[in-house]
Amino acid sequence: MNPASTDQPHVFKGRLEDCGELFAAPADQSLYESMRQAGLDWPVSCRNGTCRSCIGRLVTGQVAYDIPWPGLSLEEKRDGYCLSCIAKPLTDFVLQRA
Ligand code: FES
Repeated sequence: MNPASTDQPHVFKGRLEDCGELFAAPADQSLYESMRQAGLDWPVSCRNGTCRSCIGRLVTGQVAYDIPWPGLSLEEKRDGYCLSCIAKPLTDFVLQRA
């Protein structure tokens, strides 16, 4: 039998600032999807980075996007805002409702 596959994505630790809930956040899926799988309530609508329903602010941590320019201004990105439906974690993070 082979040892565990090394093809699995890294799993970061996410935490919601407001309630302290912890959840697993695989590097290959959005923050929203990780919260949904953990049974956490978070607003969402379009799920493609345009409506901003899922916006949150990173208290700590970093994310990346598959699309070149998600629906955030440069200032919002600089202030830590992210669109959780398309943001994928690069580090452990703490997320706050916007
Ligand atoms: S749900 Fe619309 S931007 Fe995230």
